[in-house]
Amino acid sequence: MFSVPMKICIIGTGYVGLVTGACLAEIGHEVICVDNAPEKIKMLNSGQMPIYEPGLEELVKKNALAGRLKFTSSTKDGVERSDIIFIAVPTPAQPDGSVDLSFIDRVSQEIAELLTRYKIIIDKSVVPVGTGDKVAETIRRYCKSKVAFDVVSNPEFMREGYAVNDFLHPDRIVLGVQSQRPVHALKEIYAPLNANIIVTDINSAELIKHASNSFLALKVAYINAISVICEETGANIEEVAQGMGLDKRIGKDFLNASLGFGGSCFPKELSTFIRIAEERGYDFGLLREVQRINAQQMERFVRKIADTLWVIKDKTIGILGLAFKQNTDDVRLSPAVALCQRLRKEGAHLRVYDPKAMNKAKMVLKEVTFVGDMNQVADGCDALVVATEWPEFKKLDLEYARERMTHPILFDGRNLFDPKKMEDLGFIYKSIGR
Ligand code: UDX
Repeated sequence: MFSVPMKICIIGTGYVGLVTGACLAEIGHEVICVDNAPEKIKMLNSGQMPIYEPGLEELVKKNALAGRLKFTSSTKDGVERSDIIFIAVPTPAQPDGSVDLSFIDRVSQEIAELLTRYKIIIDKSVVPVGTGDKVAETIRRYCKSKVAFDVVSNPEFMREGYAVNDFLHPDRIVLGVQSQRPVHALKEIYAPLNANIIVTDINSAELIKHASNSFLALKVAYINAISVICEETGANIEEVAQGMGLDKRIGKDFLNASLGFGGSCFPKELSTFIRIAEERGYDFGLLREVQRINAQQMERFVRKIADTLWVIKDKTIGILGLAFKQNTDDVRLSPAVALCQRLRKEGAHLRVYDPKAMNKAKMVLKEVTFVGDMNQVADGCDALVVATEWPEFKKLDLEYARERMTHPILFDGRNLFDPKKMEDLGFIYKSIGR
């Protein structure tokens, strides 16, 4: 059918679409990325990145130069040139836990109107189970001619901050298909990655995504719940996590206690999965408990700050980290930003810093002082807080910070520092579960 290199179109150049496009070009395919925001296409064509993602800029520049990666704001151009079309448009969460699928609906209609020969349409957006079937139905309905096509679900499992590496070295690739016709071409797309490929039906593929993400969120919530018991019993969460993680059935990843998980994926995925289950008559209480534990973890942290500072109002607090985790500039549902907003509400004055997320944070955080250097954050502070697990925070000049603060108090929401060392340096040091 289609031969390698495959002619691929990616619709949507957000985190998922842009990384997918750049990586597919990197493994040899001819890729054209489409976005309906002309300013984004202009940026990408001039080698500028709309997001920060380690390794992405190099990959985009290299493959654009080699002629394997192109950008356009014309869906028509992208679809007509390609045999394989990835849909990677946003699916924003709604306040009631549902997902706005109008972008996918619109793109499906556009693709339908442009179909003149057999193509494979792959859904890469984060979607609720059942979406693939709806995309197929929509394309069939809006397609003017009786042309054949296949819709495939190919969920992504990339972590922000490690997305390029996760794409190029996946644990598995999941392909949900309605027929066997596209399977050979799909395997050819990913052949250079030499990865485990699972071929299943569309609904199972979509459920693998919900079930995996919810399980990972559950793992973080579980270790956070254990961290509470550690605090109450005088045990050490890091040693407990290490002791658990060495059991291969449990695994050591995602056992870092924290002030809670955030980001564009886990919170949304939990709400979606709970709602999907509810609509089918199943009360997914286990996942509602994950949400509750996550919210409680933040409350406990705020209480820790309040218990130590007594009154938060008019205290100056330095916040290290605004991104929802390290290696990204993403502040969507960031626990660090939520903490800032909470402390502002209590009347604290905030001095904040993040290595990459300052610009994005400026759009959501008002009436705080953005500081350009992590070592200057401590100036005049009554307390410092580590809110994101950026590795460079470990290099904070603690002695300098101690001298610049009114009181050397540090709340570590990511367990970056050694409690004994902090005590020796003269800090009142409070972390999670130890
Ligand atoms: C997640 C999934 O991991 C990925 O497979 C999916 O495709 C998209 O969603 P991402 O949201 O980028 O990726 O971040 P991830 O590294 O999974 O972390 C999510 C949140 O959990 C962050 O806020 C992080 O700080 C927190 N976390 C993670 C912990 O608090 N402790 C841990 O041990 C791990």
